[in-house]
Amino acid sequence: MADLVAPTVLLHRAWLDARDEWGRDVVQHGSGLHHATDVDTPEGFAAWVHALNESADESVPMPEELVHATYWWIVEDGTVVGSITLRHRLTDHLLHAGGHIGYSVRPTARKRGLAAWALGQVLTHARQLGLDRVLVTCDDTNEASARTIERNGGVLEDVRDTELGRTRRYWIVLA
Ligand SMILES: CC(C)(COP(=O)(O)OP(=O)(O)OC[C@H]1O[C@@H](n2cnc3c(N)ncnc32)[C@H](O)[C@@H]1OP(=O)(O)O)[C@@H](O)C(=O)NCCC(=O)NCCS
Repeated sequence: MADLVAPTVLLHRAWLDARDEWGRDVVQHGSGLHHATDVDTPEGFAAWVHALNESADESVPMPEELVHATYWWIVEDGTVVGSITLRHRLTDHLLHAGGHIGYSVRPTARKRGLAAWALGQVLTHARQLGLDRVLVTCDDTNEASARTIERNGGVLEDVRDTELGRTRRYWIVLA
C-alpha cells in the first residue's frame, strides 16, 4: 500500500537506498534534487528536507523565477519508491515546457501503477489548492509518462519543441 509522504529526515536511510538504486547524480524528476545538494550527511539531508517543505509555504517568499511547490515521496512499506511535486502556479517557462507536476518512480518499482496512482492523488491536492486545471508535460518519446498522464484524464494540447526537447503538453481539468 503506497502513501504520499512529506519529505522527512526519518526516511534518510530509505531515501539513500532509493538514490543508490538510481545512481548518484542521476536526475529524479519531481524530487527537487540538484546536482550539488549534500544528501549524504544528516545535516545536509536535514537542510534539504527543510528546504523542500518550506517551498510549499506560500508565506515564505521564493527566489525570483521559482514558484512555490509541494513535494512528496511515494513510500511503500517504508521503502521510498518515487517522488512527485506540484508547482503551485505556472511561469511562462513552465507554461511552455515544464508544467505543474513532475514525478519519477525508481526503476525496480515501475510498471505497477505507482506513477498513475500518485498523479491521481496529487490532482486532489491541486484541486484543494484552488487550481481548476493543471498542465502536465513529458518528452515526446516518453511513452510511460504519456500513458500515466492520459490515464489521469490528460488531454493533449500540442507537441512542441522546447528547451527540454520535443515536449507533449497535456491539460487535466479538475472538475
Ligand atoms: C514515467 C514513470 C514515472 C512511470 O512510472 P510507473 O510507476 O512505472 O508507471 P505506471 O505503472 O503507473 O504506469 C502508467 C502507465 O504507463 C504504462 N507504462 C509504464 N511503463 C511503461 C513503459 N516502459 N512503456 C510503455 N508504457 C509504460 C503503463 O502500462 C500504464 O499505462 P496503462 O494504464 O495504459 O496500462 C517511470 O517510468 C519513471 O520514473 N521514468 C523516469 C522518470 C520520468 O520519465 N518521469 C516523468 C517525467 S515527465
